[in-house]
Amino acid sequence: MRIIESAEDALAFTGCTLVPTMGALHQGHLSLCNQAAARGVDVVVSIFVNPTQFGPGEDFSRYPRTLDADLAALRSLPTPPAAVFTPPVETVFPRGTEAALREAGSIELPACATAPQLEDRFRPGHFAGVVQVVSRLFDLCRPSAAVFGTKDFQQLRVIEQLVASSQHRFGALEILRGPTVREDDGLAMSSRNRFLSAVDRERALGIVRALQAAQVVLTPAAAEAAMAAVLRAHGLDVQYAEIRERTGLVPPSTAAVRGTCQALVAVRLDSVRLIDNDVW
Ligand code: PAF
Repeated sequence: MRIIESAEDALAFTGCTLVPTMGALHQGHLSLCNQAAARGVDVVVSIFVNPTQFGPGEDFSRYPRTLDADLAALRSLPTPPAAVFTPPVETVFPRGTEAALREAGSIELPACATAPQLEDRFRPGHFAGVVQVVSRLFDLCRPSAAVFGTKDFQQLRVIEQLVASSQHRFGALEILRGPTVREDDGLAMSSRNRFLSAVDRERALGIVRALQAAQVVLTPAAAEAAMAAVLRAHGLDVQYAEIRERTGLVPPSTAAVRGTCQALVAVRLDSVRLIDNDVW
C-alpha cells in the first residue's frame, strides 16, 4: 500500500477504482473499499478533508483527522488498497483555498444539488464544494469507477448526475453505490457519531425508529408525519423528514406508493448534525 501525495503519482493509477473519503474511516468506508477491491483493478482511497464543502459555521476545523488509524485500518483489509492518496491542499487546489472557495461559487450544479431543498437548503454551498473536489479527484486519479456511500443519498445522486452529464470530462466513469453500514442498534455509521454524548447517542436512535415508522404507513404524507412525530418524541431538532422520488429527489405525487421512493432525514443534536435515509 503506497502513500501518495502528488498529481504525478495519482495519475500513475489511471483506470483505478477510487474511494473518495475525508478520513476518520469506519466500517462503512471499509466496506466501500472491499466493494472497490472486488472489481479487480487497483484501488485508490483518497483522504482529503475538503475545505470548500464546509460552510462558515460548520465543523471543518474539528472534523476528525485520524490518519494513522486510517492507514492501519486500510492495511488490515483482506485486500489493502494499492494506494492511499493524501494530497496537500495545493495538489487539489493549485490556486489555494481562498481562490477555490471563490471558484466554487460559480460551478454549474446538477439539478439534484439545487432543486430538492434538502441538504442544499440547510448547507448552502455544500454541493458546490463536493462537486468541485470530486471533479478534481477524478481529474487527478482518472478512475474507471468510484464508490460512494448511500448514506449521503443526495450527494450520491448529485455525483451520479454530474458524471452522467460530463462524459466529455470523465469518460465512461462508473459510479458504484455502497450500502449504508449500521451499528448493531441500527444507527448509520458516520465519522460524526464520535461527537455524540451518551445521552445524544441514545436519542439518535430516533432516526432509525423514524425511518422504521415510515415503513408501516401507506402515503408519503402519512410517512412524513410519522417520521416527524418519532423524531420529535426523541427530542431531536428536525431539519427535514421527507419522502422523495428517487431520481431527482423532488416531492413524489400524492399517489406514490411505498417501494418507489426514498425517505430522507436530517436532525441536529446539539452541535452534531446527522443524516440518514432508506427506501420508502
Ligand atoms: O462523502 C464524503 O466523505 C465527501 O463528501 C467526499 C465525497 C469524500 C468529498 O469530499
